[in-house]
Amino acid sequence: MSEPIHHVNADLYAHDLFDRWANEQGIIAAEALLIRNYFTDATKSVLEAGTGGGRIAFYLEQLGFKDIQAFDIVPKMIAHARELAEKKQSAVQFQVANAADLSIYPDQQFDYLIYPQQVLCFIEDRTLFHTALREAYRVAKPGSVCVFSFLDYEARWYNPILSSVLVLLRRLRGEKGTGYDLPWLKLNGAVNKKFFHKHQPVLYWVRRKKITEELQHIGFTMVDVKNAGELENPAQGKRTGMLYLICTRP
Ligand SMILES: C[S@@+](CC[C@H](N)C(=O)[O-])C[C@H]1O[C@@H](n2cnc3c(N)ncnc32)[C@H](O)[C@@H]1O
Repeated sequence: MSEPIHHVNADLYAHDLFDRWANEQGIIAAEALLIRNYFTDATKSVLEAGTGGGRIAFYLEQLGFKDIQAFDIVPKMIAHARELAEKKQSAVQFQVANAADLSIYPDQQFDYLIYPQQVLCFIEDRTLFHTALREAYRVAKPGSVCVFSFLDYEARWYNPILSSVLVLLRRLRGEKGTGYDLPWLKLNGAVNKKFFHKHQPVLYWVRRKKITEELQHIGFTMVDVKNAGELENPAQGKRTGMLYLICTRP
């Protein structure tokens, strides 16, 4: 692996958010739907990005998948996931890696890739975000299916308002950051009272059109683009903060 990259959000996962995400259980409806619809052959290989305590990797194993690899940037998360794997007598292979540097995996290795819970939106540097998308493409086999989840900028009416206020504040303070880089609204279920403070860890909220074009530019073919709300309850079509993009590598 190349030099470690300083990653403010990863520090949060190593500390404040560790207990919650190391021990998260169950599967949300949108994830179950996507896995059922797109990961249809349990003999194929799977890669899970930002696995935390291995929640989704273990779920896939329960479904009958045998060749599962999962990585996380936080070594403590991976140590915890490995302990759980030992207890469960699981064959999932857990590795420490940053989504922006998957050099531990060879080219064209995986049939199915899943990037759940907006893992790439925790990458604050836009160049590294783009590198992470290219890394996903590199390790995907031709014909593979990739399920990405992102924070959906257009899902919330108040995002553009928050963005405008932040952009103005940042300009006055001489800080960097675009209107799509928003600090955490909530941390561990509680409102982030430091939202407007200086130097907050930020999350990258994407626009549907822009992220679609970016993935297509890398080489992916788009299969579907849906907000979690649209997936879970198509009749209601209410949008939540999660945007899923399902792609194939031709
Ligand atoms: C919201 S948690 C989701 C954990 C797990 N996928 C789940 O759904 O239960 C996000 C995880 O992504 C990891 N993460 C954040 N940035 C990452 C990156 N650049 N590369 C790999 N993992 C990352 C965090 O350490 C954390 O464990």
